Formats: sequence, structure tokens, C-alpha cells
Amino acid sequence: MLLLPVLKTINLKFDFLLLLDKTFFMNKKNKYRSSNWYNSKSHRRDTFIHRGWMRNQGHPNHLFDGRPVIGICNTWSELTPCNGHFREIAESVKKGVYEAGGFPLEFPVFSASESNLRPTAMLFRNLASMDVEEAIRGNPIDGVVLLMGCDKTTPSLMMGAASVDLPTIGVSGGPMLNGHHQGEAIGSGTGVWKLDADLNAGIISEEDFINAEISMSRSKGNCMTMGTASTMGSMVEALGMSLPGNAAIPAVDSRRYALAHMSGKRIVEMVKEDITMSKIVTKKSFENAIKVNGAIGGSTNAVIHLAAIAGRMEIDLDLDDWDKCGDGIPTLVNLQPSGKYLMEDFYYAGGVPVVIKRLMEKKLLDENSMTVNGKTIAENNINAKCWNNDVIKEFENPLKKNGGIKILRGNIAPNGAIIKPSAASPELMKHTGKAVVFESVEEFHEKIDDPNLDVDENSILVLKNCGPKGYPGMAEVGNMRLPQKVLKKGVRDMIRISDARMSGTAYGTVILHTAPEAAVKGPLAAVQNGDEIEVDVDQGTMNLKVNDETIKNRLENYSPVVPEITGGYQKMYVEHVMQADKGADLDFLIGKRGAEVKRHSH
Ligand code: FES
Repeated sequence: MLLLPVLKTINLKFDFLLLLDKTFFMNKKNKYRSSNWYNSKSHRRDTFIHRGWMRNQGHPNHLFDGRPVIGICNTWSELTPCNGHFREIAESVKKGVYEAGGFPLEFPVFSASESNLRPTAMLFRNLASMDVEEAIRGNPIDGVVLLMGCDKTTPSLMMGAASVDLPTIGVSGGPMLNGHHQGEAIGSGTGVWKLDADLNAGIISEEDFINAEISMSRSKGNCMTMGTASTMGSMVEALGMSLPGNAAIPAVDSRRYALAHMSGKRIVEMVKEDITMSKIVTKKSFENAIKVNGAIGGSTNAVIHLAAIAGRMEIDLDLDDWDKCGDGIPTLVNLQPSGKYLMEDFYYAGGVPVVIKRLMEKKLLDENSMTVNGKTIAENNINAKCWNNDVIKEFENPLKKNGGIKILRGNIAPNGAIIKPSAASPELMKHTGKAVVFESVEEFHEKIDDPNLDVDENSILVLKNCGPKGYPGMAEVGNMRLPQKVLKKGVRDMIRISDARMSGTAYGTVILHTAPEAAVKGPLAAVQNGDEIEVDVDQGTMNLKVNDETIKNRLENYSPVVPEITGGYQKMYVEHVMQADKGADLDFLIGKRGAEVKRHSH
């Protein structure tokens, strides 16, 4: 009997809470996009389902009160080791979102691992971008935080988010700590190419080679050279799409987690201020990024990825912009593969903010370009301090006078090819040599060490059928290893030309992205063994010394070596992928499609 009043009180309290909750939900204004899911008065049954099922995760009522819902787009995967710590980063983002009064919801997307995924991670960049775009648009998200790190994860997230165009902020996972091996710094990727050449030349043992693995990758994070991952992190920062300093903070540094926390806080404000991606990134932002790429000695892959992101944003960006903006930009950052240091050193020296400041001091950047924190790039970086002028060189004493990416055109590459002069050998910048041609990467591997191969250090290695369609995904095989008989002479570089890409961590006099590619009968396909090729990087030319009529005849009779594709995503990719100079995106993915989505009534 005594229990009855107590139970009644409990029931009353429970009813009272329900009543409060009802009023609570019904009084909400449909201010943000997510309210169409969680606060709709006209579609009560839908709202029940959207909101009700979310309750099974234990979210309390007040999180559905119409506050900004922030999606945390996560490329975490144990198969993408560079992004293996991203669940921890997401937790820091969540703290910031909650602190600012938002509701964070983390979701996974396709994670393209550079080190594991076959045939090449680039094949899946566009697929991942479709996943990102549809996941953002289809869900009750008002703003999105992109967690990106390993090479393709950054452009795929930027591309997908650009096509939706919600308030967006990028958070990189950060580079690994510097590698150390046998008393020397050893950089991701760059060290592999050198160790491989030394192993082939008999300078080191198999045991040394294997021991270098864990000496190189000794912490969480992405490659710590200025490879594609760190380049793209720097591009995101230069575009204004991340908080200042994002690119270089090591993955395990507590400041990486503080930045993630602050990014979570900021995205809630961005939603409230309705600062979408297209309100930040303009053509001028891309021009800034190209200049920063030159100054950091960034990866050749940036050319393709920035073109693809610009395409999604409906901004015209082509190879001429790289020539126009990149010409004369010295390489200031002394990092492997162009120089000697690694990302950890770059961060301690001041990181991207110092590079931006140095470019601004020479009036080379558009200082009014906006960034995600609501300030201009000038306001963010003008007070940056450099703590080591050997890591980030001054303009008057650069690492390389003319850095950046140089565009080459000529009868082999009417739509352009690219070279990274800062990673090339100065004595090969102007060179004429006889072509040694490989029709496929398989033929290359079969023949490169054949003692009867007619090749010497003055030859030019030519590899065909490795472009976007020819080797679906455009593999990073353009930095072909040198023939053993040349290596044994102590030679470490030769001119190499292909329609492939190369790893951002690679180096050498490597001409890439030749367009149109051989598989679509671009004139690269016409090159034959023994033909003379003339390369002049300063002049921006690359020509086959064969007359036009002969090239035409050869192309008419040419049969590309193309892999058999039975179906699935690869079929769609090959049918729709554009050439390298257009960013190798799928033709039907170009442009913004916005955040509007049809309601599905239950
Ligand atoms: Fe992931 Fe280099 S393999 S960043």
C-alpha cells in the first residue's frame, strides 16, 4: 500500500517529462536542413522513424531540438593504415561539436588505401567521392567535417563534399613521426625507392631492406615526406578549407587533437552562419594553392586532384593555370623527395602558415581569399613565425629557384604532360635521347633487366598504356626503376616519359600524365624504339623527332594494350573517365548537385 503513492509520483514525473518533451519538439523551428528529418510537424510518422530509430543509440531528447547536426565523414579503416587513428580524431571533433551546441554523428565512407588497394587506389577515388556525396546528401546533416589523410582520401572527400556544397571543414590525420634507420632519417616512400635501388645495385642486404620497414613507419599517421598525402593536406589548408596549421601537425601530437576539437567547434558556427564550401573556395583560392604547391615542392598528383575538385565546384582550372601561377615560384620547403627533411621538421619550423606568409610578402597570393574560420588567408598567416630557415628557406635562398610543376607540350603531348623540376636532375632538363619503349607495365617488368636491352643512361624510357583508361586508375608507375646495367654504372636518374602518374614521394626526371594517353591513341602511342625525343623543360616542350605524316600512319595502325574488363565499377570507370588534364574524374560527376533531396514518405 505504501508503494502506491511512490509509483504514482514516478508515473507522474514520467508523464511530465513526456509532456515536456512533446512541447519541446513541437516548438522547434525548422531552421536547419536536419529539421526536415527530425522536427517535421507535417510528416509525423516519418519524423518518428527518423528520430525514433536514432534513440537506440541512447541520444537524449535535447539533441533533437533542431540544433545543427554535424556529420563526421570518416575514412577510418584498418586497411588504410595511414587513417587507422581516425576514430580517435573523430572523438576530438565530437567534443568540439557538443561544446558549440551541435549534434555530431560519425559515418564511414569508402577508404582508398594507397598502400594496400589494388590495382591502384586512384581507380577508387571517384567511387569514394560518389559515396561521400550521396552519404552527405541523403542524411540529416547540416554541416560536415571531412577526416582525410592517405593520398586519395583527401581529394575524394573534397570532391564529394564540393558537389553537395554544405558548410564543410577539413581535418587531416597528420603525418607519421620522422622515420629513423641506421642513424639516418628515412622518409615514407622516398626511402623505399632509394632502398630498392640500393638493393638492386647490391649496396644493401635483403635483411637491411626488411629492417627498414618498421624504422620507416614508427607511428600513426600518413607518409611523412612531402608526398601526395602531405601535399593534399597543404592544398586543403591553402584553399582555406581547414583551420591554419592543419597540414603539418604530426598524427600523434596532442595539438592534432586540439585542432580537431576546434574544427568541431567551428563547423557548428559555420552552419549557423551558412558558410558553405563555395563561399570559401574560389578560382583565386585555387591559384593560391598552385603557388603554395610550388613553394612546398608538392606532389605531381596535386595537378589531377585540384582539377577534379575544381570541376566539382564548377571552377575552370586547367594546365595553363599551373604554368601561369606556378612559373617562377621557388621551392622553399626542404623536404624529401625534393630536399632532405621530413614533415615533423616542417611542423616544428612553422608549417604551411610560414610558406603562405613568405608568398604573401612577395605579393604572390590573393590575400583576401576566405578561410573556414571566417578570416582571410592574410589574417590567419601574416604573423606566422619560422623557427628553422633551413627547413623552410627564405625567398632569397630557396631550395630550388624554379619549383612547382612544369607543363610540357609538343607533338607527343598536345594536351600536356607534367614534370616536377625540383625532384629532377638539372643536367637532364634539356636532353635528347633515343626512346626505349614499353607497351605495358608488364612488358616493362619483363624486359627492363634484360642484358640484351638496347639501353644506356642517355636513353629515354617510354611507358605506354598506363593512363586513366589504359591501366584503369592511372597507376603510379611513371617513376620506372632504372635498368640494372645502368644502375651498376652508378647512374641514378634517366628521363622517363609515360601517361601514368607517380607517387608523390618519388623523385627523378619523370614526365607524367601525357595526354591524350596511348590507350585512346594519343600520339604517345606512336613512339617506337630508337626514335629520338627532345625534352626542354625550361621551354616547356617535349617532341618526337618524327614527321607528322609518320606519326599519323603509326597511330592509324596502332592497337593499344588494354586490360580485359568484365563489368562492375571498372566498366563504368573506363567508359566515363576523363583524361589526366581534366582531373580524371568521371564525366557525369562534374559540377555541383546541391543538398536538396526528395523526401521518402513511410
Ligand atoms: Fe597513405 Fe602514403 S601510403 S599517405
